[in-house]
Amino acid sequence: MKIEELIEAAKRARSNAYAPYSNFAVGAAILTEDGKVFTGCNIENASYGLSICAERVALFKAVSEGHRRFKAIAIVADTPTPVKPCGACRQVLSEFGDMDVIMANLKGEYSIKKLSELLPEAFSKDDVV
Ligand code: THU
Repeated sequence: MKIEELIEAAKRARSNAYAPYSNFAVGAAILTEDGKVFTGCNIENASYGLSICAERVALFKAVSEGHRRFKAIAIVADTPTPVKPCGACRQVLSEFGDMDVIMANLKGEYSIKKLSELLPEAFSKDDVV
């Protein structure tokens, strides 16, 4: 699977974003080690704090279908520069290894970083005693 294909999947998922409060639509697509893609969009709520980001929707869909090993996640929004995942999503993604994070926008720009670069010294299962 090419980087551009994963970004396209994230863009398609973005069209389902439910973001009436922020009007900021985000799409994500996560690629499993065995080549499957799960997508997500942000889903907001009238009780704002209960909203969930696109990345976690994609991840939770994959994990709930039995996948725990991931190569990459692509994230897309209509931003001047490639969109960056929020801190909460960085932490949640880090539970499942050091995947590539592809940050993209609708202009076709993207950058790729390791999750460990975006969240050095994450709290991890090794810290839970
Ligand atoms: N959002 C995401 O879906 N992913 C991110 O990494 C950043 C923020 C969503 C949450 C909320 O619905 C909207 O974008 C504005 O913060």
